[in-house]
Amino acid sequence: MMIEVKDLWKSFDGEPAVRGLNLTVRAGSVHGLLGLNGAGKTTTVKCVVGLLRPDRGHVRVAGRSATEDVSYKSLIGYLPENPSLPEYLTVREFLVFVARLKGLGGRELQTSVSEVAELFGLNGLLDKLIFGLSKGLKQRVAFASAIVNDPLILVLDEPFNGLDPEVQSVAKAEMKEISKRGGSVLVSTHLLDTIERVCNSATIVHRGKDLASGSLEELKRSAGLDSSASLEEAFLRTVSRVRE
Ligand SMILES: Nc1ncnc2c1ncn2[C@@H]1O[C@H](COP(=O)(O)OP(=O)(O)OP(=O)(O)O)[C@@H](O)[C@H]1O
Ligand SMILES: [Mg+2]
Repeated sequence: MMIEVKDLWKSFDGEPAVRGLNLTVRAGSVHGLLGLNGAGKTTTVKCVVGLLRPDRGHVRVAGRSATEDVSYKSLIGYLPENPSLPEYLTVREFLVFVARLKGLGGRELQTSVSEVAELFGLNGLLDKLIFGLSKGLKQRVAFASAIVNDPLILVLDEPFNGLDPEVQSVAKAEMKEISKRGGSVLVSTHLLDTIERVCNSATIVHRGKDLASGSLEELKRSAGLDSSASLEEAFLRTVSRVRE
């Protein structure tokens, strides 16, 4: 298991945002984290990447405990929900900076930076300041930086924010590629049509709990639908059942 979350609890000012959530992401899979606004997706993701400390429960990434052994952080790539990029750096400077932090150097570093720049159509922008880039171009830079070290574990929080269709397709291909190499991708998103074509499995989060988890087929079946139904239908039905 590449990512394992068991009975995760996290409160803010005494108000629980995540209440006993369970989640597993296997090697070789792209796993969706689906939920309404405020469901607890970002809080869960932040516990997985080690930005937040769980109140209770455990998080294991690549076999290491997220609270006891932070060495796993060098293995992962992370795209935050609202990435804040250093606007005073050029695109190249930022990508080189992140690559160095991830332990790359020399020719390997240059090759990695060129590859991600090429992939995300940033070649013509490498010497431009991040300050002057549009929202979607900044998101491309953030995505490129998340995969510059070729991570086997990739955690994405609303990765499609502002990306045009061409780059969304690049992003999806990259997620699939990582899973084909035996890696794991955990992706939080509202774009159910988009993610349905990429992920193998998903967890539906509602009010801080995992309502349903499994392959897309299993999610549809447990919502009482057959395989011709869409993930969106399965999601809406699963969530509305709790409201009743
Ligand atoms: N830093 C914080 N301080 C106080 N409350 C917070 C904080 N971060 C999250 N929360 C609360 O925790 C709950 C879950 O928020 P979270 O950001 O995890 O939801 P989400 O599923 O990512 O939502 P969205 O789809 O809008 O991104 C919400 O009620 C939110 O207001
Ligand atoms: Mg969020």
